[in-house]
Amino acid sequence: MRNILVTGGAGFIGSHLVRLLVNKYPDYTIVNLDNLTYAGNLANLKEVEGKANYRFVKADICNYEKMQQVFAEYQITGVIHLAAESHVDRSITDPFVFAKTNVIGTLTLLQAAKEYWKNDMNGKLFYHVSTDEVYGSLDHGGFFFETTPYDPKSPYSASKAGSDHFVRAFHNTYKLPVVISNCSNNYGPYQFPEKLIPLFINNIRHNKPLPVYGKGENVRDWLYVEDHARAIDLIFHKGKVGDTYNIGGFNEWKNIDLIRVMIKVTDRLLGRPEGESEKLITYVTDRAGHDLRYAIDSTKLHKELGWLPSLQFEEGIEKTIRWYLDNQVWMDNVTSGDYQKYYEQMYTNR
Ligand code: NAD
Ligand code: DAU
Repeated sequence: MRNILVTGGAGFIGSHLVRLLVNKYPDYTIVNLDNLTYAGNLANLKEVEGKANYRFVKADICNYEKMQQVFAEYQITGVIHLAAESHVDRSITDPFVFAKTNVIGTLTLLQAAKEYWKNDMNGKLFYHVSTDEVYGSLDHGGFFFETTPYDPKSPYSASKAGSDHFVRAFHNTYKLPVVISNCSNNYGPYQFPEKLIPLFINNIRHNKPLPVYGKGENVRDWLYVEDHARAIDLIFHKGKVGDTYNIGGFNEWKNIDLIRVMIKVTDRLLGRPEGESEKLITYVTDRAGHDLRYAIDSTKLHKELGWLPSLQFEEGIEKTIRWYLDNQVWMDNVTSGDYQKYYEQMYTNR
């Protein structure tokens, strides 16, 4: 019997992970703790909300008393920590909330886990989900390895790097059993449409401009979100305590090339001539301090734990585009209200 606290389970990656764990481990209790910020959405979890081994707690990870109460009430034996502010553009506009949630929130959870487990750390694990952005930006060659020195360049990546350092410090100082993974860009269903892929699919559908930052030459390494969730499950159960694992798709795309593929597939699925929506491409002012390229080497995860991505990109992107087109109600719900204000602030006069 294990009682697993998943933080940020109502977000994009968290909801895929919660679904996987609830369905795969009926003898575990999965406690999803999420503060339901703009990015959290319980509609992402409809499939599991009635299951006997699923619980939801609405709470802020920065609230120490509440975290203590949750650990005690649910007798938590493992944590998988995803709750975070996750969008780079928002971190440029408002860095404070990133320091608060990502650094102080992680520290608060670490302290609650350490205090609750202090008399018996056996079989306990604090799993911290992090990003490849902590390693900085690559030029045109090379990869990020687990040993690459940290060199974060945006307020978001600086806050994630800070949280990673606290996790390692708790392992070193208090012997808290921890594991960290650093993953590349995820794509798939239920991603909030502030991020490139869902934003562009929605704009193509509505014939709205596609705001390409700079020249569209930045490179990202894309991984289907369910493959990330599978990797987290594997590392949580089989990873070495105190270790770090990189997760990536060996799937690099220049933004403009990826956008052209999305346009082709979306046009086809909408019954338009393929490529018709290229006229929507609009080059806009670049993101400040825009990291040029990320590329993850996930050989260690493959060699030690046997993980490999399951989906080819062509299959994954078509599946993703189909999902957004078939789930317009989900999209309409998340883009109503504050989203319009966000969109205007981010893209008008850019
Ligand atoms: P997301 O923004 O979709 O979801 C974040 C979730 O955290 C939301 O449900 C939100 O309500 C919750 N949350 C935010 N602040 C909170 C707080 N103070 N207390 C409790 N809950 C809070 O993010 P995502 O894209 O699913 O990313 C999840 C994690 O994975 C993050 O830690 C992120 O840094 C990391 N990551 C993301 C990617 C990616 O491509 N999306 C890649 C690598 C790593
Ligand atoms: O690498 C992992 C990271 O990937 C995660 O840690 C972050 O949480 C996640 O948001 C993501 O960060 P990116 O900044 O790479 O993702 P985003 O979808 O915001 O942007 C992808 C690329 O597309 C990036 O080069 C910026 C560009 N872009 C993005 C938007 C939103 C555009 O050209 N136009 C846009 O409107």
